[in-house]
Amino acid sequence: MLTPSWRWSALAGLALLVEHALAIGQNTCVTFKSSSSSFPLVAGGKGTPIFLSEDDWPGVQRAALDFAADIQRVTGVQPAMKNITAASPPKTSQAIIIGTLGRSSLIDTVVNNTKLDVSSIQGKWESFIAQEVKNPLPGVSSAYVMIGSDKRGSIYNLYDHSEQFGVSPWYWWADVPSTKQSQIFVSSSGCAHGEPTVKYRGIFLNDEQPSLQNWAMEKFTNGTGAPLTGSPFNHFFYTKLFELILRIKGNYLWPAIWSSAFAVDDHMNQVLADWYGIVMGTSHQEPMMRSTPIEWNLFGSGPWDYSVNAQNIYNYWLNGTIRAKPYEDIYTVGMRGAGDEPLSEGQDISLLEQIIADQRTILSTVYNETDVTNIPQMWCLYKEVEGFYDDGMRAPDDITLLWTDDNWGNIRRFPLISERNRTGGAGVYYHFDYVGDPRDYKWITSTQITKTHEQMSLAVDREATRIWILNVGDLKPYEMDTEFFISYGWDSSPWNHNNVASFVNLWAQREFDVSASEAATIADIIANVTRFNARRKPELLNATVYSLTNYREAETMLQEWQNLNTTASKLYESVSSAMKPAFFQLVMHPVQASATLATMWIAAGLNNLRASQARVSANEFGSQVEAMFEDDYALEVEYHSLLNGKWDHMMDQTHVMYYYWQQPMANTMPPITKVQSKKQALAGPMRISPEGTLGTWPGDNPNQCAQGYSCPPPTIMIDPFVTFGNRFVDVGAGGPSPFTFTVTANASWLNITPAKGSVSLQSTETRVFFSVDWSQVSGAETAEVSFTANTPGQPVSVVTATFIANHTAPPSDFHGFVEGDGGISIEAAHATRNTSVSNLTWIELPGYGRTVSGITPWPRGGAELNFTAGTGPSIEYDFYNFNTIDGAGNVTVNTMVSPTLNAYGQDRPVAVAVSIDSLEPQTTYFIPYAIPGSLPAQWDGTDGFVADSIVVVPNHFTIAPGAHTLKIWMVEPTVIVQKIVIDTGGVLQSYLGPPESIVV
Ligand SMILES: *[C@@H]1O[C@H](CO)[C@@H](O)[C@H](O)[C@H]1NC(C)=O
Repeated sequence: MLTPSWRWSALAGLALLVEHALAIGQNTCVTFKSSSSSFPLVAGGKGTPIFLSEDDWPGVQRAALDFAADIQRVTGVQPAMKNITAASPPKTSQAIIIGTLGRSSLIDTVVNNTKLDVSSIQGKWESFIAQEVKNPLPGVSSAYVMIGSDKRGSIYNLYDHSEQFGVSPWYWWADVPSTKQSQIFVSSSGCAHGEPTVKYRGIFLNDEQPSLQNWAMEKFTNGTGAPLTGSPFNHFFYTKLFELILRIKGNYLWPAIWSSAFAVDDHMNQVLADWYGIVMGTSHQEPMMRSTPIEWNLFGSGPWDYSVNAQNIYNYWLNGTIRAKPYEDIYTVGMRGAGDEPLSEGQDISLLEQIIADQRTILSTVYNETDVTNIPQMWCLYKEVEGFYDDGMRAPDDITLLWTDDNWGNIRRFPLISERNRTGGAGVYYHFDYVGDPRDYKWITSTQITKTHEQMSLAVDREATRIWILNVGDLKPYEMDTEFFISYGWDSSPWNHNNVASFVNLWAQREFDVSASEAATIADIIANVTRFNARRKPELLNATVYSLTNYREAETMLQEWQNLNTTASKLYESVSSAMKPAFFQLVMHPVQASATLATMWIAAGLNNLRASQARVSANEFGSQVEAMFEDDYALEVEYHSLLNGKWDHMMDQTHVMYYYWQQPMANTMPPITKVQSKKQALAGPMRISPEGTLGTWPGDNPNQCAQGYSCPPPTIMIDPFVTFGNRFVDVGAGGPSPFTFTVTANASWLNITPAKGSVSLQSTETRVFFSVDWSQVSGAETAEVSFTANTPGQPVSVVTATFIANHTAPPSDFHGFVEGDGGISIEAAHATRNTSVSNLTWIELPGYGRTVSGITPWPRGGAELNFTAGTGPSIEYDFYNFNTIDGAGNVTVNTMVSPTLNAYGQDRPVAVAVSIDSLEPQTTYFIPYAIPGSLPAQWDGTDGFVADSIVVVPNHFTIAPGAHTLKIWMVEPTVIVQKIVIDTGGVLQSYLGPPESIVV
């Protein structure tokens, strides 16, 4: 077994140990108690005055106002704030002095006066230091100086401190209250941060209708929106967003686009973005800082086709560039077809090359520079455009290549080693929200932080760190996920696969001011809700995703949702009323809404199934579906009613019952049916339904046997290695007549609980469990079980079943997984042996994936690392089988791997090799070839790779019953194995595979 003991050790250095400072991974310097080495921000009811310089960036001036307001939020004390010059120093012995190196004349003087060493930030991007200095200005004996290397360095310096003393970046956007403090101190040595991991870290508001748009319309406009577009996204909206982005240490934004034009809708939008310190861009399909197609439809003339309308399009881009020139931007270059569609057939590489060349001519014209290489530009290799690149098209070296994921969180391609020395570098466009194939997902959080970390850490390793942009849909409800993405880009160094879950733990402590143990519970809740929603996006659920008959899968899922809901509800009840709105938005609602939807679907499945079995209990599940459908809306209303309607419309997104990839125009209830409960089923009052079959007895049913009529009685089999340790049979009502029943067997080794009971319309089903006293069974023994119903006024009815107990047993010296129920199911992390090669080892990614975790070769290394099957690092699992498929000596090994893509380029497809014992390893390239810019057919569809969030790799081997060792070999890096199921002939259909087998 891989030992989990090291999992938490990496946390030791994090902020957990610092008294109360609220921080997620960063260095902390705030305390709430004074010490000999601390400096007061607020002490004894007085705030230390804050000084700035008039010549600093307006964005820094503005953030300083936030900083002072934050101090007041926490302490109730508003510190004085003033512009000063070194020539007229304040008459105060202590001061907070804020400013930007090389921009604030005040800071430059202080640095000069104190000989403060600023070499760590001088000339650096977005860096800062803060510390106490003595005698910074005449008459001032000591000051806490907060110095940024540039505009945003100064801004982050301030917000970093605010976060630590208790102002969440989400104080407005998720109503996180600040814990009150009477005093705030900083350590004299202060805080500092160097250059970020990723230079541009941003979000993309996308597919913002219905939720964000309807909400913004109500909250930021008088109901009309912008004159030309009707867009509600004016500067009242955007300034709220700019502040949030800066507080989470982002710097870049792709604005809402579908019926909005950022620069046109409100002339203050562009101005204020720059003023706040936000770098603006436009999405992958909107070149040259114009919202396209909205602006093109308004102002362009002729078709959006460069091959026939180049001059008009050129002028259109020229005007966008002139308009954007005063501000900090990243220009999107290249072109897609109108409406985010591919360029039409025949519009090829040479045209696109011409387009980019013309766009650079525009830049050099507008900026009046022959050298445009210092103007940030980005070319997004989205969908077919990546195909152009793969086919050989290249952009000038200074243009950042923005690689993309598959819209489902699997990055399609990383820079190859040969592509890493480009001056423009590379970046990643990633999705937490999507509209398109195989189905939209845009309702609720469905991304696991473990997966985001796995993919984005790969982006760091492979040097795709110039730009990270995240499609956040409506922004809410992806608050925590988004903050992780951005802060990981800000500084990837605190996080690794072993401690990434602690991000959520620290986040919970910061947001809800809870104890460490409650924070751990919240982290668990978040891990589970995102895991369940990532197993299959809620939009892709239907009534039969989770097996209704096999492995108790649907019922386990129901139970897990219910447990989660109970745990979250308890916490929700316990938090203060001031905390409730935040807790509801960030924890309670995602859990409750997801649980409600999932329960509704499973209940619909059980309703449909039981109706087909003539079980009156079908009606109860039908009623549950109806109740859940109402609850679903009630939860939406509850969200919308929070804080007097502050978030009205934010949960407008439809999500119940998709008919195709696009969102339904209304929520519609899953189909349910009803059994006529006033009339007895033709087959009699009693229905006998064993687990593991769709069939029910007595009477005819298509699932009892192939022929569908005159079928034999049911057979129930069990062996000692069936995971649940028992089998059950539901005894149910087939009509209105109440009856009592007894269950008897002609064998003493069969335990029956309960062996009798009564069934009626008030209590429509009794579940009877069967377990075996294995000490009394040798080999396979058969018992006859009788279910006898006594119904007043009716003849006694009896259903018999055959119960076979097969006492399998591996030799006593065997250790490992034992076949039960016709198969062996193994969580990949639970290995018997693990063999390194060249210091590469399979390691566990805790909390990753659909069930327990994933394993992957580590370190991931570079593209140079691959092996032929059987030579790389391997991981082994000892197992014992009693059977083979049809007794013919064959078994099928189904290795469940993550749908990660061939991110090293087409000539290096991902692969894994599997073998048993010393049999020849079988290598599978599990992501089939796709033409450049496209994805393989198996990726798509409602049962495809991304819908299932897994790829099943089958390999067939011929082995005898007995002890064996399964081996998984590394062939290519970054492959993640989650679970392995060896079918020895009895594995049944399910979504997640059988529960893990018993280990001896
Ligand atoms: C400092 O000066 C700037 C620029 O004139 C001004 O916008 C700002 O309001 C001033 N700050 C204070 C605290 O007076």
